[in-house]
Amino acid sequence: MRRKHLVGVVVVIFLTWNVLMYYMLVSRNPGKVGAVSVQDQLRNLQGDIQRQLSHNSDLLQQLRKFREQKQSEKLDKEIRRTPHPIDTNSVVLPILLIACDRTTVSRSLDLLLKYNPNKKRFPIIVSQDCGHKPTADVIQRYVSEHGIQHIKHPNTTDIKLPWPQRKFQGYYKLSRHYKWALNQVFHTFNYSAVIIVEDDLDVSPDFYEYFSATFPVLHQDPSLWCVSAWNDNGKVGMVSDEADLLYRTDFFPGLGWMLEKSTWLEIGPKWPDAFWDDWMRHPDQRKGRACIRPEICRTSTFGKKGVSKGLFFEKHLKFIKLNDKFVPFTKKDLTYLQKDKYEQYFMKLVKDTPEVTVSEAMSGHKSNMKALKIIYSTKDEFKSTAKKLGIMDDFKAGVPRVAYNGVVSFMYRGQRIYLAPPSNWKGYDPKWS
Ligand code: UD1
Ligand code: MN
Repeated sequence: MRRKHLVGVVVVIFLTWNVLMYYMLVSRNPGKVGAVSVQDQLRNLQGDIQRQLSHNSDLLQQLRKFREQKQSEKLDKEIRRTPHPIDTNSVVLPILLIACDRTTVSRSLDLLLKYNPNKKRFPIIVSQDCGHKPTADVIQRYVSEHGIQHIKHPNTTDIKLPWPQRKFQGYYKLSRHYKWALNQVFHTFNYSAVIIVEDDLDVSPDFYEYFSATFPVLHQDPSLWCVSAWNDNGKVGMVSDEADLLYRTDFFPGLGWMLEKSTWLEIGPKWPDAFWDDWMRHPDQRKGRACIRPEICRTSTFGKKGVSKGLFFEKHLKFIKLNDKFVPFTKKDLTYLQKDKYEQYFMKLVKDTPEVTVSEAMSGHKSNMKALKIIYSTKDEFKSTAKKLGIMDDFKAGVPRVAYNGVVSFMYRGQRIYLAPPSNWKGYDPKWS
């Protein structure tokens, strides 16, 4: 009996406590029974909305991409329907200057304007990314004083990237900018070729002369797909003083380069989200094609701090020799650069050059010879020789910088050196890296 009584009391107390708690809650939050769960619900709702928002912005990005693609496809069709022959000696070659947030873009512009022989034939377009007002103001001054064009990349939003790629944001942004700017040049302005420079490049006095003379060669030879102002081994002491000497190279050099619309129609639609220059060096894009490059650079860079950071500048870029003489290229015969002629002339030159070991070359015992050849058969042989002689030792898609048919040409202590593969060479090995 006492036990039953006790249980009864406990039950009554329990029920009373529950009723009291219920009352307290209701009187504190009238109309909001179970306030704790409402908080949770709100939190969940917030999460849902955030997910929806980010989903929407992804969708928007995809839509933008799709629209761009459709527009460029439509334009491409129109253009293909109305092919028109180009007068290669008077074709308009616009300079597309890629800018972002460097007010020192004025340094590049000053030289581009100083050496410009004809602003109608070589109009200057500055395409600005990043929406940086001080830089925009600088560029705007050149619009009013020199009649250049200033276009602005409309999309300067951050690009959403998963964590490991986040540090490459700059490479993504600049690739997106390149794509937009080149579409403007070819589809909005409808030019047939372009010379692309960046906002940290100086140009040489014969920059325009070089590109205008090489355009016909580029246009007529389908095995060429660019002309570049850059020699990757163009450091002081590693180039001769033959300012008029030009080469073909299998390595896309970039850094001041000319591109034809027909090539853009091919690569533009599949332009990559990042690392555009290495992407161009891949066999899927290059398709065995070469670029023309000079012995002595027609551009040099003063951009110490860039997207790819400063070390490379201090170790290499700041030693690049910028050509300071005017070579009248348009008055010279450049047909030696055509594939068939070049293979004969250049490969014979290499073949006829006496072969030495790297230590013989370094000893100076053969310094009476005009040129020497050093053979490499393996990746490691190439690398160690390159290191000893101070040239670039890296590969992209298996191609050493500057190489043509595997041959890298440069100067070592006043002597021409051809670092060449053996005569039974089978082509580049993409596994060499
Ligand atoms: C390096 C290359 C450069 C190449 C780039 C992409 C050298 C010396 N330079 O860039 O030729 O294009 O890698 O692989 O090897 N920019 C934008 N938007 C941005 C950031 C930069 O448009 O958000 C523009 C800059 O104005 C400049 C260009 O991209 O014209 C390259 O940027 P920079 O900061 O100079 O990077 P580098 O490390 O020199
Ligand atoms: Mn740069």
